[in-house]
Amino acid sequence: MQSRVHLERWSAADLPLLEKLLGDPAMTRHIGGPESAEKIAERNARFARPESRMFKIVDDATGEAVGSVGYWEKEWRGELVYETGWSVLPAFQGRGIAAAATEQLVAAARSERKRRYLHAFPSIANAPSNAICRKLGFTLVDECDFEYPKGSFMRCNDWRLDLFAAG
Ligand SMILES: CC(C)(COP(=O)(O)OP(=O)(O)OC[C@H]1O[C@@H](n2cnc3c(N)ncnc32)[C@H](O)[C@@H]1OP(=O)(O)O)[C@@H](O)C(=O)NCCC(=O)NCCS
Repeated sequence: MQSRVHLERWSAADLPLLEKLLGDPAMTRHIGGPESAEKIAERNARFARPESRMFKIVDDATGEAVGSVGYWEKEWRGELVYETGWSVLPAFQGRGIAAAATEQLVAAARSERKRRYLHAFPSIANAPSNAICRKLGFTLVDECDFEYPKGSFMRCNDWRLDLFAAG
């Protein structure tokens, strides 16, 4: 089933959504496990800052918030790049929502004309996330040991999209 979604800027009132996305063991299986309530509240405040490029994914038909997607700057192999990440609530998975939302995010990052490369680092075991990268035209650069959360390393794929190439 295909779902139509749009992106809305993250706001401080979206804390309950972030708690569902990051406080749940199943949802965080590939991203280091659940975060504490305190860490989630800190992250929520950061996401809601004006300079943040974090978005909630909203179902067009119902106005319901179903997930998150965003990008941020990161130093990678000596260069400033963008990194992206996504998350969709279990009840809404398997409908193409993460792929559709990330496609919209890529268009926004492209229109900035600021950083050339957008990277994603899904765990090699995260089949849907690797499928999303492939589907959206990311190039698989490498496998790497990625530190997330701080102090813990997981085996990830380094996917890269050239935002300056014609999209
Ligand atoms: C990763 C995640 C966001 C995917 O959300 P989703 O809305 O279900 O994804 P989509 O429906 O857009 O599916 C993406 C692709 O994955 C494929 N897919 C889904 N589950 C799969 C599985 N178990 N094995 C292989 N492919 C799978 C789908 O077929 C689809 O590919 P297609 O369009 O070519 O058919 C969701 O599983 C999630 O929130 N996981 C927890 C958080 C997380 O790990 N985030 C990623 C960090 S990089």
